Amino acid sequence: MDLSTDICGIELSGPVLNGSGTFDALAARRVFGDSLIEDFPFDCYVSKTITMNPRPGNPPYRLWETPSGMINSIGLPGPGLDGFLERDLPGLAGLGVPLIVSVMADQVEDFEVLVSRVATRDEVAGIELNVSCPNVHSGLIVGEQPSETEALMKALRPITEKPLIVKLTPNVANPQEVAVGAEAGGADAVSMINTVKAAAIDPGVNRTWLGVGAGGLSGPAVRPIALAQVRAVSASVGIPVIGMGGITDAESALEFILAGARVVAVGTENFRDPRAGSSVTEGLPAALGRRGFGSLAEAQAASLD
Ligand code: FUM
Repeated sequence: MDLSTDICGIELSGPVLNGSGTFDALAARRVFGDSLIEDFPFDCYVSKTITMNPRPGNPPYRLWETPSGMINSIGLPGPGLDGFLERDLPGLAGLGVPLIVSVMADQVEDFEVLVSRVATRDEVAGIELNVSCPNVHSGLIVGEQPSETEALMKALRPITEKPLIVKLTPNVANPQEVAVGAEAGGADAVSMINTVKAAAIDPGVNRTWLGVGAGGLSGPAVRPIALAQVRAVSASVGIPVIGMGGITDAESALEFILAGARVVAVGTENFRDPRAGSSVTEGLPAALGRRGFGSLAEAQAASLD
Protein backbone atom coordinates (compact mmCIF):
# COMPACT_ATOMS: atom_id res chain seq x y z
CA MET A 1 0.00 0.00 0.00
CA ASP A 2 1.28 3.46 -0.89
CA LEU A 3 1.87 5.35 2.37
CA SER A 4 3.55 8.39 0.82
CA THR A 5 2.30 11.76 2.02
CA ASP A 6 3.58 15.22 2.87
CA ILE A 7 3.62 17.68 5.71
CA CYS A 8 3.54 21.38 4.82
CA GLY A 9 5.28 20.77 1.51
CA ILE A 10 7.86 18.26 2.75
CA GLU A 11 7.42 15.09 0.69
CA LEU A 12 7.53 11.92 2.80
CA SER A 13 7.65 8.26 1.85
CA GLY A 14 5.36 7.56 4.81
CA PRO A 15 3.66 9.28 7.75
CA VAL A 16 5.96 8.24 10.61
CA LEU A 17 8.36 10.74 12.23
CA ASN A 18 10.21 10.57 15.52
CA GLY A 19 9.40 12.88 18.39
CA SER A 20 12.20 15.38 18.98
CA GLY A 21 14.74 14.10 21.49
CA THR A 22 13.53 10.51 21.51
CA PHE A 23 15.90 8.90 19.00
CA ASP A 24 19.59 9.82 18.82
CA ALA A 25 20.28 9.01 15.17
CA LEU A 26 23.99 9.79 15.39
CA ALA A 27 24.49 7.45 18.35
CA ALA A 28 22.33 4.81 16.64
CA ARG A 29 24.45 5.04 13.50
CA ARG A 30 27.60 4.56 15.56
CA VAL A 31 26.08 1.38 17.01
CA PHE A 32 24.27 -0.04 13.99
CA GLY A 33 26.41 1.39 11.17
CA ASP A 34 25.04 1.92 7.70
CA SER A 35 22.34 -0.70 8.22
CA LEU A 36 20.54 2.07 10.08
CA ILE A 37 20.47 4.19 6.94
CA GLU A 38 19.43 1.33 4.70
CA ASP A 39 16.41 0.68 6.92
CA PHE A 40 15.88 3.97 8.75
CA PRO A 41 12.88 3.70 11.12
CA PHE A 42 11.34 7.08 10.24
CA ASP A 43 10.13 8.87 7.11
CA CYS A 44 11.45 12.19 8.41
CA TYR A 45 13.93 12.88 11.22
CA VAL A 46 13.33 15.55 13.87
CA SER A 47 16.47 16.60 15.74
CA LYS A 48 16.85 17.02 19.47
CA THR A 49 16.03 20.63 20.37
CA ILE A 50 18.94 22.97 19.72
CA THR A 51 19.62 26.02 21.88
CA MET A 52 21.88 29.03 21.25
CA ASN A 53 24.58 27.93 23.69
CA PRO A 54 25.74 24.49 24.86
CA ARG A 55 23.70 23.15 27.78
CA PRO A 56 24.56 20.36 30.23
CA GLY A 57 20.90 19.57 30.89
CA ASN A 58 19.28 19.11 34.27
CA PRO A 59 20.93 17.49 37.31
CA PRO A 60 20.10 13.80 37.94
CA TYR A 61 17.87 11.99 38.27
CA ARG A 62 16.33 12.70 34.90
CA LEU A 63 14.08 9.73 34.21
CA TRP A 64 11.32 7.88 36.04
CA GLU A 65 9.30 4.99 34.68
CA THR A 66 5.57 5.04 35.43
CA PRO A 67 3.09 2.15 35.04
CA SER A 68 2.32 3.19 31.48
CA GLY A 69 4.87 5.79 30.55
CA MET A 70 7.91 7.76 31.56
CA ILE A 71 8.67 11.09 33.21
CA ASN A 72 11.69 12.92 31.85
CA SER A 73 13.49 15.92 33.17
CA ILE A 74 16.33 15.98 30.68
CA GLY A 75 16.60 19.75 30.38
CA LEU A 76 17.70 20.12 26.75
CA PRO A 77 21.38 19.15 26.94
CA GLY A 78 23.13 19.85 23.67
CA PRO A 79 26.09 21.30 21.82
CA GLY A 80 24.54 24.71 21.16
CA LEU A 81 23.90 26.17 17.73
CA ASP A 82 27.53 26.31 16.52
CA GLY A 83 28.30 22.79 17.72
CA PHE A 84 25.14 21.47 16.11
CA LEU A 85 25.79 23.11 12.75
CA GLU A 86 29.44 22.05 12.64
CA ARG A 87 29.35 18.57 14.14
CA ASP A 88 25.83 17.12 14.12
CA LEU A 89 24.09 18.52 11.06
CA PRO A 90 26.34 16.86 8.44
CA GLY A 91 25.66 13.44 9.98
CA LEU A 92 21.92 14.02 10.26
CA ALA A 93 21.82 15.22 6.66
CA GLY A 94 23.10 11.79 5.60
CA LEU A 95 20.22 9.83 7.11
CA GLY A 96 18.41 9.67 3.78
CA VAL A 97 15.13 11.24 4.97
CA PRO A 98 14.03 14.89 5.24
CA LEU A 99 15.41 16.66 8.30
CA ILE A 100 13.45 18.94 10.64
CA VAL A 101 15.56 20.82 13.18
CA SER A 102 13.98 21.63 16.54
CA VAL A 103 15.03 24.89 18.20
CA MET A 104 14.26 26.58 21.52
CA ALA A 105 15.26 29.95 22.99
CA ASP A 106 14.34 32.03 25.98
CA GLN A 107 14.13 35.29 24.08
CA VAL A 108 12.69 36.22 20.71
CA GLU A 109 16.03 37.57 19.47
CA ASP A 110 17.69 34.20 20.06
CA PHE A 111 14.85 32.43 18.26
CA GLU A 112 15.53 34.78 15.32
CA VAL A 113 19.21 33.85 15.25
CA LEU A 114 18.48 30.13 15.56
CA VAL A 115 15.92 30.18 12.76
CA SER A 116 18.05 32.37 10.45
CA ARG A 117 21.16 30.25 10.78
CA VAL A 118 19.42 26.88 10.61
CA ALA A 119 17.25 27.96 7.68
CA THR A 120 20.25 28.85 5.52
CA ARG A 121 21.35 25.22 5.50
CA ASP A 122 20.14 23.31 2.45
CA GLU A 123 20.13 20.07 4.43
CA VAL A 124 17.23 21.36 6.55
CA ALA A 125 13.70 20.77 5.25
CA GLY A 126 11.86 22.48 8.09
CA ILE A 127 12.20 23.96 11.57
CA GLU A 128 10.24 23.02 14.68
CA LEU A 129 9.89 25.70 17.35
CA ASN A 130 9.88 24.07 20.77
CA VAL A 131 7.81 26.48 22.84
CA SER A 132 6.61 23.73 25.14
CA CYS A 133 9.49 22.11 27.01
CA PRO A 134 8.43 21.75 30.66
CA ASN A 135 12.00 21.13 31.83
CA VAL A 136 13.72 24.47 31.32
CA HIS A 137 12.90 27.83 32.79
CA SER A 138 12.37 30.14 29.88
CA GLY A 139 11.70 33.84 30.19
CA LEU A 140 9.03 33.32 27.57
CA ILE A 141 5.47 32.20 28.07
CA VAL A 142 5.07 31.81 24.35
CA GLY A 143 3.64 28.34 24.25
CA GLU A 144 1.00 29.07 26.85
CA GLN A 145 -0.37 32.33 25.45
CA PRO A 146 -2.04 32.55 22.02
CA SER A 147 -1.02 36.20 21.59
CA GLU A 148 2.63 35.46 22.48
CA THR A 149 2.71 32.51 20.09
CA GLU A 150 1.30 34.68 17.32
CA ALA A 151 3.82 37.46 18.06
CA LEU A 152 6.73 35.01 17.99
CA MET A 153 5.56 33.61 14.67
CA LYS A 154 5.19 37.09 13.22
CA ALA A 155 8.80 37.82 14.19
CA LEU A 156 10.09 34.56 12.69
CA ARG A 157 7.91 34.19 9.61
CA PRO A 158 9.73 36.80 7.49
CA ILE A 159 13.10 35.09 8.12
CA THR A 160 12.51 31.98 6.01
CA GLU A 161 10.17 30.35 3.54
CA LYS A 162 11.02 26.96 5.01
CA PRO A 163 8.19 25.32 6.94
CA LEU A 164 7.90 26.49 10.55
CA ILE A 165 6.22 24.02 12.89
CA VAL A 166 5.13 25.00 16.40
CA LYS A 167 5.40 22.28 19.07
CA LEU A 168 2.45 22.76 21.40
CA THR A 169 2.21 22.08 25.10
CA PRO A 170 -0.67 20.04 26.51
CA ASN A 171 -0.32 21.97 29.77
CA VAL A 172 -2.93 24.61 28.97
CA ALA A 173 -6.70 24.59 29.18
CA ASN A 174 -7.23 25.27 25.47
CA PRO A 175 -4.35 24.25 23.20
CA GLN A 176 -6.56 25.05 20.21
CA GLU A 177 -6.33 28.76 21.09
CA VAL A 178 -2.53 28.57 21.02
CA ALA A 179 -2.71 26.70 17.71
CA VAL A 180 -4.96 29.41 16.27
CA GLY A 181 -2.38 31.99 17.39
CA ALA A 182 0.40 30.01 15.72
CA GLU A 183 -1.55 29.81 12.49
CA ALA A 184 -2.42 33.51 12.58
CA GLY A 185 1.28 34.32 12.97
CA GLY A 186 2.20 32.24 9.93
CA ALA A 187 3.02 28.75 11.23
CA ASP A 188 2.89 26.01 8.60
CA ALA A 189 1.99 23.21 11.02
CA VAL A 190 1.72 22.36 14.69
CA SER A 191 3.11 19.29 16.40
CA MET A 192 1.55 17.94 19.55
CA ILE A 193 1.61 16.93 22.29
CA ASN A 194 4.78 17.64 24.24
CA THR A 195 4.89 16.04 27.68
CA VAL A 196 2.38 16.50 30.47
CA LYS A 197 3.75 18.13 33.65
CA ALA A 198 4.39 15.41 36.21
CA ALA A 199 6.33 14.48 39.35
CA ALA A 200 7.58 11.35 41.12
CA ILE A 201 8.46 10.73 44.76
CA ASP A 202 11.64 8.82 45.63
CA PRO A 203 10.55 5.38 46.90
CA GLY A 204 13.44 5.31 49.38
CA VAL A 205 13.47 8.70 51.02
CA ASN A 206 11.15 11.62 51.49
CA ARG A 207 12.08 13.73 48.51
CA THR A 208 11.19 14.09 44.87
CA TRP A 209 12.94 11.67 42.53
CA LEU A 210 13.78 14.05 39.69
CA GLY A 211 16.71 16.41 40.13
CA VAL A 212 14.66 19.51 39.51
CA GLY A 213 11.57 18.22 41.27
CA ALA A 214 9.32 17.68 38.27
CA GLY A 215 9.33 16.76 34.61
CA GLY A 216 7.10 15.71 31.74
CA LEU A 217 5.06 12.52 31.38
CA SER A 218 4.96 10.70 28.03
CA GLY A 219 4.07 7.25 26.72
CA PRO A 220 0.77 5.37 26.49
CA ALA A 221 -0.50 7.03 29.69
CA VAL A 222 -0.89 10.34 27.85
CA ARG A 223 -2.40 8.97 24.63
CA PRO A 224 -6.04 9.76 25.49
CA ILE A 225 -5.06 13.33 26.40
CA ALA A 226 -3.14 13.68 23.15
CA LEU A 227 -5.99 12.28 21.07
CA ALA A 228 -8.48 14.72 22.60
CA GLN A 229 -6.15 17.66 22.02
CA VAL A 230 -5.23 16.64 18.46
CA ARG A 231 -8.92 16.33 17.69
CA ALA A 232 -9.73 19.76 19.14
CA VAL A 233 -6.78 21.48 17.47
CA SER A 234 -7.23 19.91 14.05
CA ALA A 235 -10.86 21.06 14.08
CA SER A 236 -9.75 24.60 14.92
CA VAL A 237 -6.97 25.29 12.41
CA GLY A 238 -6.40 24.82 8.70
CA ILE A 239 -2.71 23.96 9.02
CA PRO A 240 -1.73 20.30 9.43
CA VAL A 241 -1.12 18.61 12.76
CA ILE A 242 1.77 16.26 13.55
CA GLY A 243 0.21 13.99 16.17
CA MET A 244 2.09 12.22 18.95
CA GLY A 245 1.65 11.03 22.50
CA GLY A 246 2.02 7.38 23.43
CA ILE A 247 2.05 5.84 19.95
CA THR A 248 3.31 2.27 20.26
CA ASP A 249 2.06 0.55 17.11
CA ALA A 250 0.21 1.03 13.83
CA GLU A 251 -3.21 0.91 15.47
CA SER A 252 -2.40 3.72 17.89
CA ALA A 253 -0.78 5.70 15.06
CA LEU A 254 -3.97 5.34 13.05
CA GLU A 255 -5.99 6.63 16.01
CA PHE A 256 -4.08 9.91 15.67
CA ILE A 257 -4.74 10.09 11.92
CA LEU A 258 -8.44 9.54 12.60
CA ALA A 259 -8.34 12.24 15.29
CA GLY A 260 -7.15 14.67 12.62
CA ALA A 261 -3.36 14.38 12.49
CA ARG A 262 -1.86 14.36 9.00
CA VAL A 263 1.23 12.48 10.11
CA VAL A 264 2.39 11.00 13.41
CA ALA A 265 5.51 10.82 15.54
CA VAL A 266 6.77 7.97 17.72
CA GLY A 267 8.49 9.09 20.92
CA THR A 268 8.75 7.18 24.17
CA GLU A 269 8.36 3.80 22.46
CA ASN A 270 11.76 4.39 20.78
CA PHE A 271 13.43 4.03 24.18
CA ARG A 272 11.97 0.52 24.51
CA ASP A 273 12.38 -0.50 20.88
CA PRO A 274 14.64 1.52 18.55
CA ARG A 275 12.84 -0.06 15.59
CA ALA A 276 9.40 1.07 16.79
CA GLY A 277 9.05 3.49 13.87
CA SER A 278 9.53 0.68 11.38
CA SER A 279 7.03 -1.51 13.23
CA VAL A 280 4.42 1.24 13.00
CA THR A 281 5.01 1.63 9.26
CA GLU A 282 4.97 -2.11 8.64
CA GLY A 283 1.68 -2.48 10.50
CA LEU A 284 -0.12 0.43 8.86
CA PRO A 285 -1.44 -1.29 5.70
CA ALA A 286 -3.14 -4.01 7.75
CA ALA A 287 -4.41 -1.49 10.33
CA LEU A 288 -5.84 0.70 7.55
CA GLY A 289 -7.40 -2.35 5.90
CA ARG A 290 -9.03 -3.52 9.16
CA ARG A 291 -10.79 -0.15 9.40
CA GLY A 292 -11.91 -0.30 5.78
CA PHE A 293 -9.45 2.18 4.28
CA GLY A 294 -7.81 1.48 0.93
CA SER A 295 -5.08 4.07 1.44
CA LEU A 296 -3.52 6.42 3.97
CA ALA A 297 -5.11 9.34 2.15
CA GLU A 298 -8.59 7.89 2.77
CA ALA A 299 -7.89 7.77 6.50
CA GLN A 300 -6.43 11.30 6.46
CA ALA A 301 -9.62 12.52 4.80
CA ALA A 302 -11.99 10.60 7.09
CA SER A 303 -13.93 12.43 9.76
CA LEU A 304 -15.10 10.88 13.00
CA ASP A 305 -18.76 10.85 14.01
O1 FUM B 1 15.34 17.75 27.08
C1 FUM B 1 14.20 17.99 27.48
O2 FUM B 1 13.94 18.20 28.66
C2 FUM B 1 13.11 18.07 26.50
C3 FUM B 1 11.97 18.54 26.82
C4 FUM B 1 10.84 18.72 25.93
O3 FUM B 1 10.87 19.51 25.00
O4 FUM B 1 9.84 18.10 26.18
